[in-house]
Amino acid sequence: MSSSHQFQTTAVVTGAGRGFGSAIAAALIDQGHQVVGVARTAGAVADVHRRLGAAFVPVAADATDAETARTLIEQHQPMVLVLNAGATPAIGPVHEQSWESFSRNWQVDTQHAFHWIRAGLRHPLAPGSLVVAISSGAALGGSPLSGGYSGAKAMIRFLAGYAAEESRRAELGIRFATVLPQLTPATDLGAAAVEAYALRQGIDATTFAAALEPLLTPAIVGAEIARLCRDTDNQDEHRVYQLTGHGLHALA
Ligand SMILES: NC(=O)c1ccc[n+]([C@@H]2O[C@H](COP(=O)([O-])OP(=O)(O)OC[C@H]3O[C@@H](n4cnc5c(N)ncnc54)[C@H](OP(=O)(O)O)[C@@H]3O)[C@@H](O)[C@H]2O)c1
Repeated sequence: MSSSHQFQTTAVVTGAGRGFGSAIAAALIDQGHQVVGVARTAGAVADVHRRLGAAFVPVAADATDAETARTLIEQHQPMVLVLNAGATPAIGPVHEQSWESFSRNWQVDTQHAFHWIRAGLRHPLAPGSLVVAISSGAALGGSPLSGGYSGAKAMIRFLAGYAAEESRRAELGIRFATVLPQLTPATDLGAAAVEAYALRQGIDATTFAAALEPLLTPAIVGAEIARLCRDTDNQDEHRVYQLTGHGLHALA
């Protein structure tokens, strides 16, 4: 029996080398998916492969590359695509940023979402497939010490909405969900931000993090994204959710 026959469907998760991405991969595998996990660091995706076993297919690649997006979509024809890859923002107030540092998350997070969503529409994902775009709670309230991060993440939400409309117009049957996680110190990216915002307020990171409780953990992110993927009853073309330690909460 070929390996593809052992699994219900294939999911692709970008940024699967650590943090939210590896937890999402684990939860989707528990749910019976094969997961193609993409990150640039070969050692990180190899570690995840060792931990999760044969159901995790490690791919060491830059998810901002348009050709990578096209090839992996054509090769694996995923029914679930989780666009989670993201750069750690350059920390500092606006006057200490350069344009290069300010635009880092546009170059990585937004660019990758653009290429994968575009490829998913042009080499269309199958009817009934689901694209989950990971934005951020910062897209609602701003993030003054994180350069252009909040704007880049807001654009990802818009992008998913634009794509959902094109899917509807062309009757492609591809569904989109945008998820806005709350800040958490539980990952490398979140810990760096918590440290910076705590310092700005003149308090320590533990005190700052206490105000975020119940903390969002990678395990909660994984479980909630997997729950979203199970929910085939909801046929809305574009759903938007905040994600906190209490779980998913639909935005109107
Ligand atoms: N943690 C939070 O508080 C928080 C809150 C709201 C939203 N988010 C969002 O949630 C997502 C995951 O964050 P996280 O906290 O889990 O971050 P993380 O622990 O830093 O993990 C980020 C992952 O993305 C990968 N990545 C970065 N650039 C990439 C690229 N060009 N191509 C492929 N993979 C790339 C990284 O691997 P390589 O470096 O090896 O490529 C890593 O596997 C991000 O989009 C982030 O903005 C996080």
